[in-house]
Amino acid sequence: MKMYQSKLSGLGKYVPENIVTNEDLSKKMDTSDEWIQERTGIKERRHIKKGDGNTTAVMGYKAAKIALERANIDANDIDFIVFATLSPDYYFPGCGVQIQDMLGIATCPALDVRNQCSGFVYALSAADQYIKTGMYKNILVIGSENHSGGLDFTTRGRNVSVIFGDGAGAAVLSRCEDKNAGLLSTHLHSEGKFAKELSLLGPSTLKWVPEIIEENPQENIPYYPYMNGQLVFKNAVVRFTEVIMEGLTHNNLSPKDIDLFIPHQANLRISQFIQKKFQLGDDQVQNNIQKYGNTTAASIPIALTEAWEEGKVKKGDVVILAAFGSGFTWASAILKWA
Ligand code: ACO
Repeated sequence: MKMYQSKLSGLGKYVPENIVTNEDLSKKMDTSDEWIQERTGIKERRHIKKGDGNTTAVMGYKAAKIALERANIDANDIDFIVFATLSPDYYFPGCGVQIQDMLGIATCPALDVRNQCSGFVYALSAADQYIKTGMYKNILVIGSENHSGGLDFTTRGRNVSVIFGDGAGAAVLSRCEDKNAGLLSTHLHSEGKFAKELSLLGPSTLKWVPEIIEENPQENIPYYPYMNGQLVFKNAVVRFTEVIMEGLTHNNLSPKDIDLFIPHQANLRISQFIQKKFQLGDDQVQNNIQKYGNTTAASIPIALTEAWEEGKVKKGDVVILAAFGSGFTWASAILKWA
């Protein structure tokens, strides 16, 4: 069977206009700009504003339109949509079908990926397999999150709610003629024993809405995200390192070959740890968590789009994407820019 290579042929991003600073958050909860910046690097993030029309699907659509334009292809040339999010508009159906409708595509297959911070790399990997086998030529891969709609902005939720922001990124993955360029490989992992350490357990089929309302718990509300921050941090630095090395080794590359590293924007301290570990210069790591917070599945495509817009990637560059998050799941993708 003939195998094909895939490449990123268009990138786009969208973030809501509404900027929420650390100062703004400190008016709602007991926190401070100093605490947030020192622990996470975040200065501000974007939040959807009631009435601005944004949802996870709508933001994904806005990013996708830009990616399609830049790829210079019509929406009807998209063979498949893969949508990564932990914050879909509906419990079901997923956002992929909404995008298909918004783009005016009569019918096309759409798949939703629920892998949180690693979601975009998982989605990219899934899309890559369809292109490799020749089944599809152009695939729209989207990561989008509406975190602000589901966070606890009281002091009780401060360790989580200061970190996350809203936004979307999108990429068109297309068949690449050059066999030695494009997406070289992807590496995916999970470890479900830590599933509850960074999670949102209700509403779920184990704890459905009527039950939650009946219990109306005031103290221990299960329908806000829970995060064991220190455990996440410790696992993140180890898994990021492992999965980057796995990708490099698989392609006979070494850390010296990295031109640009695009980490999932979990926490600036995590990215700085990895930068030091791999001895990368400041211009070799794309960080934008200062402006957007952690946008989970959207963070890599937003950072990738900004790197491209800033002219930081050129043909032949080795670009590493890596993510770690809830699941725990972690993943990397190694690209030779085509
Ligand atoms: N403002 C002020 N004080 C706070 C806040 C806040 N927003 N949040 C927590 N605190 C307090 C705590 O209550 C605690 O107070 P105490 O000592 O009186 O009990 C103190 O600060 C220290 O809390 P810790 O949770 O131990 O703080 P830590 O130094 O671990 O920092 C953080 C918390 C930033 C979440 C850190 O653990 C971390 O970065 N973990 C990695 C998790 C991560 O990056 N998650 C991103 C999402 S998941 C992903 O994308 C991988």
